[in-house]
Amino acid sequence: MKSWMQFLVLITSITSTSALLASGGAEGGGSQMSPVTNAKWKAECSSCHMLYHPGLLPERSWGKMMGGLDKHFGENASLDPATRDEITRFLVTNSADKSDNRRSSRINQSIPANAAPLRISETRYFTSKHDEISPVTFKRKSIGSAANCIACHQGAEKGNFSESQVKIPR
Ligand code: HEC
Ligand code: HEC
Repeated sequence: MKSWMQFLVLITSITSTSALLASGGAEGGGSQMSPVTNAKWKAECSSCHMLYHPGLLPERSWGKMMGGLDKHFGENASLDPATRDEITRFLVTNSADKSDNRRSSRINQSIPANAAPLRISETRYFTSKHDEISPVTFKRKSIGSAANCIACHQGAEKGNFSESQVKIPR
């Protein structure tokens, strides 16, 4: 009788753990990225474009980007060293190769180990997920470029790219 009860408790805890993982909550393991945030990142990395979730690129990409902010896609996005280091730590801690959600893992797997791309929109994962969208669509006034995820994915800044939240604007 006693061991039967222990068995039941075990089964119940396994079931609730996988339900939690499937829901993709802040505990990770699901398909959505955790809604992580940092005040300095939010203030400094959203003045020119949307906030790119740290789970979209691996540590080596963020390291390279944060080491060259004076030449950031043709812009000078330099920061004082303390701010830069805090944002780098935040990005690295939550980077695609450190996260256990499915999307971050797949982005990471689509990038060769010796490559450190600075553009999410040029990773193999991205191109494979958007191969049905024509270049003309990305250039629409309401969108601008493939880099403007939030034009089509409402939850992009929170790391939510679920199909139910995708809407391509006219
Ligand atoms: C002074 C303006 C400016 C600031 C500040 C800035 N960026 Fe950018 N960033 C750009 C421009 C311009 C691009 C290229 C956008 C495009 O091609 O549509 C870009 C592109 C990017 C991309 C590539 C998007 C893609 O997939 O193509 C990432 C990632 C990025 N920035 C991260 C950051 C982070 C992290 C910070 C904060 C440390 C930051 N940016 C601050 C101007 C800025
Ligand atoms: C022009 C609109 C548009 C833009 C801009 C865009 N996407 Fe998408 N994205 C889509 C559509 C449409 C799909 C396919 C949805 C589906 O049917 O699964 C998709 C699929 C995805 C998926 C896969 C979802 C899944 O569960 O299979 C991810 C992840 C994603 N996009 C991330 C991004 C990121 C990151 C950016 C910016 C760097 C971005 N997207 C920019 C329209 C867009």
